[in-house]
Amino acid sequence: MKRALGTCYYPEHWPEEMWAQDAANMIAAGITWVRIGEFAWSRMEPTPGTFTFDWLDRAIDTLSAAGLKIILGTPTCTPPRWMLDRFPDMLAVDAQGQPRKFGSRRHYCFSHAGYRAASGRIAEVLGDRYGRDPRIQGWQIDNEYGCHDTVLSYSDAAREAFRLWLRNRYGDIDALNAAWGNVFWSMEYRGFDEIDLPNLTVTQANPSHELAFRRFSSDQVVAYHAVQVAALRARTDAPLIHNYMGRVLDFDHFDVGASIDIASWDSYPIGFLSDRLEGSAEHKARYLQQGDPDMQAFHHDLYRAVGKDGRWWVMEQQPGPVNWAPHNPAPLPGMVRLWSWEAFAHGAEVVSYFRWRQAPFAQEQMHAGLRRPDDAPAPGLAEAAQVAQEMAQMPDVAVKKAPVALVFDYPSEWAWATLPQGDGFSYFRLMLDAYRALRRQGLSVDIIPSTVDDVSDYAMVLAPGLAHLPDALKTALTGTVALLGPRSNAVTKELCIPVPMGPDLPGLNTTVARVESLPPNVTRAVKGGGTIQHLVEMLEGQATTGLETIMGDAILKSEGALHYLGAWPDEVLWDRIIVDLAEQAGVETRELPEGLRLRDTQTHLFAFNYSPDTVLFDGVQIPPAGVHWWAR
Ligand code: GAL
Repeated sequence: MKRALGTCYYPEHWPEEMWAQDAANMIAAGITWVRIGEFAWSRMEPTPGTFTFDWLDRAIDTLSAAGLKIILGTPTCTPPRWMLDRFPDMLAVDAQGQPRKFGSRRHYCFSHAGYRAASGRIAEVLGDRYGRDPRIQGWQIDNEYGCHDTVLSYSDAAREAFRLWLRNRYGDIDALNAAWGNVFWSMEYRGFDEIDLPNLTVTQANPSHELAFRRFSSDQVVAYHAVQVAALRARTDAPLIHNYMGRVLDFDHFDVGASIDIASWDSYPIGFLSDRLEGSAEHKARYLQQGDPDMQAFHHDLYRAVGKDGRWWVMEQQPGPVNWAPHNPAPLPGMVRLWSWEAFAHGAEVVSYFRWRQAPFAQEQMHAGLRRPDDAPAPGLAEAAQVAQEMAQMPDVAVKKAPVALVFDYPSEWAWATLPQGDGFSYFRLMLDAYRALRRQGLSVDIIPSTVDDVSDYAMVLAPGLAHLPDALKTALTGTVALLGPRSNAVTKELCIPVPMGPDLPGLNTTVARVESLPPNVTRAVKGGGTIQHLVEMLEGQATTGLETIMGDAILKSEGALHYLGAWPDEVLWDRIIVDLAEQAGVETRELPEGLRLRDTQTHLFAFNYSPDTVLFDGVQIPPAGVHWWAR
């Protein structure tokens, strides 16, 4: 598969006279894919049942005639205003019980049967018209499920569907009462029809209730998605794609990904650093115009796991300042190129820039494109064109299996969010810390789901924070160098404390006897260097103590290749742990200059310099935003 560049284009935003020149300019820049249509419902069907596809036909003609391959989006993330007349109760409802209004996007509730059917219908209409059109080489279903906090909806439709979901899951109400521990605070129900959604309770709702609602809500996304998958599968052989957004975790991406062909995601490195990442002020200042060195790579590796047979794209790549983060600096010169190459090195088939031209109107008018609103080239365009030229001159990169795997599990995120036991820390944050630690040692990483039953291809597997460990994985982990904890296998599937207590790993005599959470300014020093923070567990049992605090409390217990970590390490301690594990696993680590990251492929070893300074690595000076590769 030849790697390629793309862009997101909105023919409905521009006079038709511009389309042909736009298409020619895309081709001239080395762009070969174009995504269209995903927000254009009001132009496809201006009033119910009246379809106006003539403009779309002409846009497809023009783009394709220039040599572009087209991804067509179903427009279901932007239901037009008339849809509300049909379904006044289709709006998602927030946790305060307020319906979310029309006037932006993603205002629908996934549980609303009428809107779900209407979404299937527009997918059918589009599929009937374009499904066999060879110019349409891929279909994007909806856009960014869950973005703008839209998975959890407390609507009437959601409540009814939740009751049904609970009935199917538990069968009888006594089983549910027992599973959730509803005897506590007299929360017992006499029937499924008495169960409400877990919002607006006086104090915290029962965590089991809340986790069930989160599982249900994820399943509703999957069920909503399935309707469009069915509509399109019957009408096209082109690959089906969903386009995910970074750090949107309220639904299980593996479940959505199971029915489609390609996972794509939206990479906004500078927006993410400012908007959705923990980190010190120093870290954020240092990487202000580059983005966090690990956030993008983490998602690349995640979506390689979500996509069928490892197929994944970056559908939207930040090309300049965005509009939606608290602060929106411009990328350092070179970063658009670096982000693009980094995605290819992690296996992306396509990197597509959002958007072709900056819109002079509406919500995103301050969001850069590859071209300015006056159509002059913006700085990102030259970097995209440079990537295209460089790609033409080198053989395609090919993904290589990494030596290390990191288990990522959406229900664990929900379990942590439901029962965090401390402010400011989350499963995702812990995972990113573990991932960073691996990458600081120069390691390439595969992310894998918790549903795997064989990890024998990996020299080393990490599963921190994995709330509930499936039996198959538990067994599989005993054959490799494995690190679990903190808080791995700590709860039942219903979010209760299991007895015997966790981590309950075969071959590791260790029990977590107590859990503490600490405020962010408190750390405890560890013998030999480093500290622990946020979360500290008291470890009991006969397994060998590998690390302890200066007070003598065990924080790492091991037997052979199996290790349990009972705390959240700082960087120094993570580095010690990873170096030791890698040595045990026979995996080579490398010391890297700060901000430099490596990625190994079958054909090349890549180095990416996220730091604002020139670094020296392997005898090569790599400037800020520099990319270097060595042929294998
Ligand atoms: C993405 C979204 C795009 C656009 C972009 C702005 O989340 O898919 O439609 O809003 O962000 O950065």
